[in-house]
Amino acid sequence: MNRPQVLDGVAIASEIKAEVGREVAELSSHGVRPGLAVILVGEVPASQIYVRSKVKTCGELGIYSEMLTPPESITTEEMLALVANLNARDDIDGILIQLPLPKHVDTKRLLEAVSPDKDVDGFHPVNAGRLQSGQPGLAPCTPAGIIEILRRSGLPIAGQNAVVVGRSDIVGKPAALMLLNESATVTVCHSKTRDLPAVTRSADILVAAIGRPGYVAADMVKPGVTLIDVGINRLTDAADVQRFFPGDAERAATFAKRRSVIVGDIDPAAFAVSGAYTPVPGGVGALTIAMLMHNTVKAAKLRRG
Ligand code: GUN
Repeated sequence: MNRPQVLDGVAIASEIKAEVGREVAELSSHGVRPGLAVILVGEVPASQIYVRSKVKTCGELGIYSEMLTPPESITTEEMLALVANLNARDDIDGILIQLPLPKHVDTKRLLEAVSPDKDVDGFHPVNAGRLQSGQPGLAPCTPAGIIEILRRSGLPIAGQNAVVVGRSDIVGKPAALMLLNESATVTVCHSKTRDLPAVTRSADILVAAIGRPGYVAADMVKPGVTLIDVGINRLTDAADVQRFFPGDAERAATFAKRRSVIVGDIDPAAFAVSGAYTPVPGGVGALTIAMLMHNTVKAAKLRRG
């Protein structure tokens, strides 16, 4: 069998960022500078890393960015006031509330308070509705990244059997809708799906967004399938690293150094029988920030005409 094609998310993200950078330059020649505000509550290390990376990428592309870092103790009402202020500001085109928020904060109320036209995460129900009804709007970054990977790798979507495992509002559901909008025949699977392997084996394109390390095994996929792995799971047990990556000296060295290794929701043994796959890391995850930048420029253009 032929070796699978590795879908290089980092290279595709670079291509998109370069395009966004050119659009920012074009807007700046008309006196417009797109602006992104990121709200990061408290001190969650993973969120701090993500947000820093978002702000840094804005800088690289010429997008204005502003980071708001209220303390963990902030109330929902105080957060609503912050959002209202950002909604009203003309120099801010995109507002991103980094998740998760502390438990005492009403996440749903806050996400609904962001102006839909500044909702660069695409989490507002109005944008979910626009996506559902095929109207222009801001689409969630990770699913939009999946479509970009397929399109830019020349992999067909129309007419393909696409199976999405996972039905979250942030990834699974919007990914299914976007694949449907591209004329795939779409099936969405979840924890109550009967005979999951039979359904996943019918996939020409399989999207895994479950949040469980290596959940999709090699015997659950059809040879030649395109595998899109949205999972980011940290392995901290040497036995798990050995199980998922047998004989992989590079991963073993990473584990020896960092005491952890990242694996997706798809068992690497399934990648081996695929026609094409997104690696973890370096696949879908690499696209999320690029699509956020894309959405920020899109929001600037939509809002400022
Ligand atoms: N936390 C982890 N990923 C994301 C994301 O894409 N957007 C937001 N707002 N928070 C996140």
